[in-house]
Amino acid sequence: MKIILLGYMGCGKTTIGSQLAKKLYQNFTDLDNYIEKKENKTISEIFTEKGEIYFRNIEHNYLKKFINENDSYVLSLGGGTPCYANNINIISQEANVYSIYLQGSVTTLYERLKINSSKRPLIASLKKDSLIEYIAKHLFERSVYYEKAKHRISINSKAVDDIVAEIRILLH
Ligand code: S3P
Repeated sequence: MKIILLGYMGCGKTTIGSQLAKKLYQNFTDLDNYIEKKENKTISEIFTEKGEIYFRNIEHNYLKKFINENDSYVLSLGGGTPCYANNINIISQEANVYSIYLQGSVTTLYERLKINSSKRPLIASLKKDSLIEYIAKHLFERSVYYEKAKHRISINSKAVDDIVAEIRILLH
């Protein structure tokens, strides 16, 4: 079984992915974590030391490597992964993958990200009053990629367990 979770920062990809994997007795991988281990650096360090373009390159290469080397997994992507370097097509073309967009509204994402931005280099330096505008614009630009996932689940006002249960229904 191959499951790939995608969506904007703060939509819960990592939390939901790890819970889902437990229920399904599958291996769970978070792509950012995978990159951090391979590079022996945090995502923030990679952005600061090498810049975003370098990050997008290695993100693309590690995504391909992971997909080629594994045939059963729950994988959560970084928020930007589907939006660069043809990654969304790589995911879509992979046989038997459930790609799932965890869709959150601007308000839901803002409420989560305003208290959780420090480890996210794209938003770490934004003031709270510019954050909501940033999310709205950025989410709008990225939605075209997220919408290419085979499935979409709304996460607004839902508990993790309920979202995991919804995903499991999708898999039947
Ligand atoms: C990014 C999201 C982050 C991480 C990097 C860039 C993005 O992952 O990959 O900071 O472009 O949205 P999360 O979505 O897990 O925060």
